[in-house]
Amino acid sequence: MTAASVILAAGQGTRMRSTLPKVLHPVVGKPMVWYALEAVKDLVDQKPVLVVGYGAEQVKKAIGDQADYVTQEQQLGTGHAVSVTRSKLAGKADILLVTFADMPLLTRETLEDLIKLHAGSDSPVTMTSFIGDEARGFGRVVRDEAGHVAAIVEQADATPEQLSIREYNVSAYCFKASWLWRALEQIPVSLKGEYYLTDVIGLAVAEGYDVNALVLEDPSDGIGLNNRVHLATVECIMRQRINEKWMLEGVTLIDPDATYIEPDVRIGKDTTIQPNTHLRGSTVIGEHCEIGPDTIVVDSEIGNHVQLLASVLEEASVADHVSMGPFCHLRKGAILDEYVHLGNFGEVKDSYLGPHTKMGHFSYIGNAKIGANVNIGAGTITCNYDGEKKNPTEIGDDVFIGSDTMLVAPVKIGDRSITAAGSVVTKDVPDDALVMGVPAKQKRKKEKSD
Ligand code: UD1
Ligand code: CA
Repeated sequence: MTAASVILAAGQGTRMRSTLPKVLHPVVGKPMVWYALEAVKDLVDQKPVLVVGYGAEQVKKAIGDQADYVTQEQQLGTGHAVSVTRSKLAGKADILLVTFADMPLLTRETLEDLIKLHAGSDSPVTMTSFIGDEARGFGRVVRDEAGHVAAIVEQADATPEQLSIREYNVSAYCFKASWLWRALEQIPVSLKGEYYLTDVIGLAVAEGYDVNALVLEDPSDGIGLNNRVHLATVECIMRQRINEKWMLEGVTLIDPDATYIEPDVRIGKDTTIQPNTHLRGSTVIGEHCEIGPDTIVVDSEIGNHVQLLASVLEEASVADHVSMGPFCHLRKGAILDEYVHLGNFGEVKDSYLGPHTKMGHFSYIGNAKIGANVNIGAGTITCNYDGEKKNPTEIGDDVFIGSDTMLVAPVKIGDRSITAAGSVVTKDVPDDALVMGVPAKQKRKKEKSD
C-alpha cells in the first residue's frame, strides 16, 4: 500500500482579516502549515502535496522544498481543491490522506490511527470527528438511527435540528485514491457556489458503504483555526504541549504558562527555565543550566551549567559554565568559551572570548578575538567601526584592560599587557607592556609577577 498526502492551503482565510495568507500565520514561531506538514511527512511515501492559491508565492517561499505544490487558481471549495491534485497524484498512491493547513493541532498519532481504521474497513473513505461544545463553524456529522454516518452537513446549509448536533467534522480523511478521483467528479455545486469535499461522504453512503469515523478523544486535536481568537487558543494549547513534553523529559519550568519554547528547540536534563523566557528557532540548551527569568535565546547554542539572567542572545554560542547577566546582549557570531563571565550591560558581536575571561560591567566587544583569562574593565569599548568598515581587535591571554579603555581597531594587545583606566589605544601593544593616556603610550615593561 502506498500513501500520499494532500494538504489544502489555498484559501485566503478572510476571517483572519490579514494581508498574510492564513496558513502562514505563526503558531509558536512556525507558520501553521508547518505543523500540518510535520504531522504527515513520515506517514507517506512521497512529499506531501500542498494545494496553494491565495498568496501562493509567499507560501512556497516560506515552506520551500518540504512540499510539492499544486496551484488552485480559483478557490471553488475544498472538493475542488483536492481535485486539482489529480493530475499529479492519480495512479501514484493507493491511499490518500487529506488534511487542512489550518489545523496545526492535529497530530501524527491521530493520523496513524485514522490510517489503521481505514485499513480495516471496506469503505473507500474514513473520516475524523470529535464531540464538543463549541461549533466554530464546523460541519455536522449526521448519523442514521442505527448510528452509522449518513452525511456531513456544512453549518451554512444545516437545518436548525442539524445545527444542534454536537459531533463535528474535523476534516482529516483517508481515501482509497482511485475511488476519490471518481467521486470528486460527482459532487454538486453548493448554495455558496463551492464544491464541498464533505459531500463525498454522502456519496459513499449512497453507494452502500459503511463510513467509519475516528472520534477523537482529545477534541483539542481537531480545532480548526479560522480567526485570531482561534489563533490565540491554538497557540496556547501548542505551547502547553511543547512545555509538557520538556517537563516530562526532565526540564523544570517554574511557570509553564509564562515559558515560550519553539518546536525545534532542544533542552538538556536538569535545566531550569525561569518565567518569561523565550527559546526560539534552532536553539539548543545543555544540561544543568539556569535560564531566565526574562531571557530571549534565538538560534543559539548553550552548553551545560550555564546561567543566563535577563539577557538576549541571537545566533550566539556559549560554552559550559558561562554566567551572564542581567542585561547582556549577545549578537550574531558571539562565541563565549568556558567559564566566561559577563556582568551587567555587556554587548558582544562577532567575537570570541577565551576561557575564564571576565567582563563585569558596561562593555561593547565587536569583531574581536580575546584570549583566556582576560579582565575587561568597566566601560571598555572596541571602536570597531570607522564609518566604512568593521575592523578587528585582538587581545592575548591574561591581559588586563583597565576601565573605560577605548580600543581603536584595528589594534592588537599582547599577552599579559595592561591598559590603564581611560586609555585610548590606537596602536598595537606588545606582550608584557603597560600603556596609558590619550592616545595611549607605553610606560614600561610590565613587571613579571613571578
Ligand atoms: C471545513 C469543512 C468542515 C469542517 C472544517 C474543519 C468543507 C466544505 N468544510 O470548513 O466540514 O468542519 O473545515 O476545520 O470542507 N481551501 C482550499 N481551497 C478552497 C477552499 C478551501 O485550499 O477552495 C482550504 C483552506 O485554505 C483551508 C481549508 O481548505 O486550509 C479549509 O477551508 P475553510 O474555508 O477554512 O473551511 P471551513 O469552513 O473551516
Ligand atoms: Ca477552517
